Amino acid sequence: MSHNLLKGKKGIITGALNEESIAWQVALRAKEEGAEFILSNAPVALRMGKINELATTCDTEVIAADATSLEDIENLYTQSAEKLGGKLDFVLHSIGMSPNVRKGRDYGNLNYDWYLKSLDISALSFHRMLQVAEKMDILNEYASVLGLSYIAAQRTFPDYADMAQAKAVLESIARSYGERYGRLKKVRVNTISQSPTKTTAGAGVSGFDAFFDYADMMSPLGNASAEECADYCVVLFSDFTKKVTMQNLYHDGGFSAMGISPQVVEKMN
Ligand SMILES: NC(=O)c1ccc[n+]([C@@H]2O[C@H](COP(=O)([O-])OP(=O)(O)OC[C@H]3O[C@@H](n4cnc5c(N)ncnc54)[C@H](O)[C@@H]3O)[C@@H](O)[C@H]2O)c1
Repeated sequence: MSHNLLKGKKGIITGALNEESIAWQVALRAKEEGAEFILSNAPVALRMGKINELATTCDTEVIAADATSLEDIENLYTQSAEKLGGKLDFVLHSIGMSPNVRKGRDYGNLNYDWYLKSLDISALSFHRMLQVAEKMDILNEYASVLGLSYIAAQRTFPDYADMAQAKAVLESIARSYGERYGRLKKVRVNTISQSPTKTTAGAGVSGFDAFFDYADMMSPLGNASAEECADYCVVLFSDFTKKVTMQNLYHDGGFSAMGISPQVVEKMN
């Protein structure tokens, strides 16, 4: 059901690869809520993924941008503003990749070139998108910029390897840039710390099914789905959250506040 929460708002949604992607669901919900937006992903994802199908469904276009390239991001903003006919009200950064995680590298055996790549793609890209936006003055007042995080930024999940540091940096950037952009232009910057979600990036983490089930058992409300995450993103893009900024917002069914749950106790017994 639509509430027209994003009527008249323009934005960019990155990271939709296939139907499982969190960003895919955000695009569908944002469209339903009346937003106009451009979709973007890395050039390689445009070739491998199904983003063009999503663009057709959402009646929009895809602009390729590698989040590690300043030039690509500048081009993404310029073209988006042109096509949408004005500055932007929201940006979703839904980008994450770790070669170390992908290749199952143990935390005591990380490849440092890949480590830098993980940080560059998954965290510094958030700063890059914010810094280029500021320099180009591409965002309207009270625009909302959102990144997607995971609780491995605060707690240790051994198989998450260097992505734990990437998420810690991502959340820190939301605070530092949130202060700067709020002061300069009343722009909001937040991260959502989402439950484990069955997506291409999620499934790349070894032991994912086990910690998906564990998190579900630990959370009084159960794991949050990609669709539910999309609902939360839409609210954070809307005018109903105009004073929410510099936060890491848990969207995890209560997992982050739990010690142990009766279900886990029962299982252990
Ligand atoms: N799936 C989970 O369990 C989970 C939980 C919490 C947070 N997150 C985060 O949500 C975000 C979206 O991931 P997802 O789970 O929807 O998986 P996904 O694999 O569908 O999305 C990840 C996206 O990042 C894109 N990407 C990778 N390298 C890029 C680059 N250089 N430039 C531009 N885009 C690039 C991929 O093409 C892909 O579309 C990520 O930040 C992820 O860490 C996921």
